[in-house]
Amino acid sequence: MTPTYRICLLPGDGIGPEITVEAVKALEAIGRRFGARFEFREALLGGAAIDATGTALPDETLAAARAADAVLLAAIGGPKWDSTDPDAPRPEQGLLGIRKGLGLYANLRPVRIFDALVGASTLKPEALAGVDMLIVRELTGGLYFGPRARERDVEGAGAGGVRGMRAYDTCVYTEFEVERIARKAFEAARARRGRVHSVDKANVLESSRLWREVVHRVHDAEYPDVELIDQLVDNTAMQLVRYPAQFDVVLTENMFGDILSDEASMLTGSLGMLASASLGDGTALYEPSHGSAPDIAGQGVANPLAMLLSVELMLRYSFAMHEAADALAGAIEAVLADGWRTRDIAGPDTLPQRTVGTSAMGDLVVERLEG
Ligand code: IPM
Ligand code: MG
Repeated sequence: MTPTYRICLLPGDGIGPEITVEAVKALEAIGRRFGARFEFREALLGGAAIDATGTALPDETLAAARAADAVLLAAIGGPKWDSTDPDAPRPEQGLLGIRKGLGLYANLRPVRIFDALVGASTLKPEALAGVDMLIVRELTGGLYFGPRARERDVEGAGAGGVRGMRAYDTCVYTEFEVERIARKAFEAARARRGRVHSVDKANVLESSRLWREVVHRVHDAEYPDVELIDQLVDNTAMQLVRYPAQFDVVLTENMFGDILSDEASMLTGSLGMLASASLGDGTALYEPSHGSAPDIAGQGVANPLAMLLSVELMLRYSFAMHEAADALAGAIEAVLADGWRTRDIAGPDTLPQRTVGTSAMGDLVVERLEG
């Protein structure tokens, strides 16, 4: 019997719908070749959902995501919905809401360099040799979800004694939250090169001191075979461009992981190459790490590869279709090796006739999947 997998698609905003089309194309090709059936159900999230319903995460979307075997999210947000009004709905509330709603506490962002793209990075090729890391970002705690407010500055301590507003966000972590993400990182390291850098700011932040203590406790009790290195986040930011090959698994809290993963993506040449998997105890969600790129939306030039690499992660983690995942990764690698580029990864050595748009790039991958 042909296995059937139900995928909830969340195309979102900006380039989201364009790259979603490419993901569906690739999944259909994979279904034909590997004998699986994918059923797609589309739902609204982000700005698209705000426009249609007034809220960034409609109840039906969360219900559709929960009911699916996996969720594939493209990107959300854009200038249309940007506002500093604390009461205005924001697309990002949809993304944070669905992460929280599905309990997706572990965000895995693999940073892998395709040989063909070494020249596309802003770093020297020597600096990129041996780079293969996995960022394990805590995704449902910290500053993104802690108590926050904007309120009248009643003490009148504003600059020059002028009374005004003040605002705060709070970074809260519980032992439980740190333990479970630490386990994910140590497990991942065991299946890789056996090293975890735990990134914090323990020289300043109390939440980081608890983080460090708990990570060490979990390590000593359950994973003494894994090498554990503490690193302060400012140092990590520097080490990522100085000697990125030192990293195997990088374990870190929500906001540090957000920032460091954008930085690490440039090792690969483009933010358009970084995939991610968000895992919890139920349905998992897959999404490229890049945003909705409103500046190029609708032009057919967006790079669909981070989306396709997110599909690869879905095949592995949610459907255990490892052979299909390898085939998809191999197809992407072959297309790049043949010199095909979207413009974000085109270099001085790219032939103009090999610079292609979103859908041509998707077709090239599908051709190789079928060939
Ligand atoms: C990411 C994004 C999101 C985040 C934004 C859009 C809320 O930057 O997935 O990295 O900060 O988590
Ligand atoms: Mg980010």
